[in-house]
Amino acid sequence: MYYTLYMKTLIFGGAFDPPHREHLNILLEASKAVNFDRVVIVPTFNPPHKDDSVIDFDTRVLLIDKLFKKSGINYIVDDIEKRRGDSNYAVEVVAALKEKYAGELYYLIGGDSLINIETWHKPELLFPLATLVVCGREGYVGLDQKIDYLQNKYGAKIIKINYVGSEISSSLLRLRLNLKLDADVDGIELIKDRFNKYDSVLNQLKSYQSDDLYFHSRAVAYRAVEIARHHRLNIDLNKAFLAGLLHDNAKQRLSLDGFDVPSDAVGSPVLHQFLGSLKAERDFGIEDIDILSAINYHTTGKADMTTLEKLIYCADMLSEDRPCIENLLKVIMTDFEIGFRSCLASSYFYVLSKKRGMYPLTQQAFDYYIKNAKFPL
Ligand SMILES: [Fe+2]
Ligand SMILES: [Fe+2]
Repeated sequence: MYYTLYMKTLIFGGAFDPPHREHLNILLEASKAVNFDRVVIVPTFNPPHKDDSVIDFDTRVLLIDKLFKKSGINYIVDDIEKRRGDSNYAVEVVAALKEKYAGELYYLIGGDSLINIETWHKPELLFPLATLVVCGREGYVGLDQKIDYLQNKYGAKIIKINYVGSEISSSLLRLRLNLKLDADVDGIELIKDRFNKYDSVLNQLKSYQSDDLYFHSRAVAYRAVEIARHHRLNIDLNKAFLAGLLHDNAKQRLSLDGFDVPSDAVGSPVLHQFLGSLKAERDFGIEDIDILSAINYHTTGKADMTTLEKLIYCADMLSEDRPCIENLLKVIMTDFEIGFRSCLASSYFYVLSKKRGMYPLTQQAFDYYIKNAKFPL
């Protein structure tokens, strides 16, 4: 008991839906800044993304154990939020934990959360309870100013750790599980069958696509959402997902079926993009003009493209089944617009080198974005 009074306890709350290696890595980074004696992991009872979640509380606790057991970290999973039910304001939970664990309390939160902390319930009562350990990615805009502001206004104690992790996140893992792509989750066998959100459209594609094309379709959907989230592009992620998944829906079924397509596309590799938008509407019930147009230009590009059109164009080139994408992928993850133009140039010069005919829309895209670019980068 005497010892407990001097213990440093780090509280690590979150949905852990599912838990993944980045949770471990963040803790290891935090341990460099705070030499804590133990971690109390506090899974939220009702994750904020309720509609998207299929992993119940008890299974999340099991998965946390699987992940942390071999880490060597001294941890406890506390089910306080489950016991409290729906009344789980951070200030109340941290106060209860302070009473239970005594000693010095540290509370790990993300940079996003700190930015919005004044919208939390009674934040002024939270600051005296624990030192906040804030995970801010390098270059995170506004975080340092916010820390200064909170220190001055509330006397908050805040330690910032600069953590540059990988892109993995629980929501991207959920997407991978729903797409039936590999997902690095300890204990995946416990949960993988529960992810079936997109099964009807996946089954429809699987019924006629080759294994390679079916994998590619899912990989493009995943990459589109990953890039859009990374850059916080101002587009609907559901549209990005559907456009990615269905972009090649006509690739292995090129019958014209009476559809009106540009005559110079017939017999050319670009035919499937035009047929793809028409068949996505007819066979998959897609009516959204943004999705249809992203499918319609995913191979050729065109002048003056929408963000969604650019995104699907790039995701198609940069999906994980494509060889040699590392460099271009790095470029687009750094700057979306430069990445898009790099993809366009790479594709344009590839077609030139193969001495294939250049489809007019691709020439127009190249002229618009690169040769005569009004907005050079
Ligand atoms: Fe395609
Ligand atoms: Fe494709």
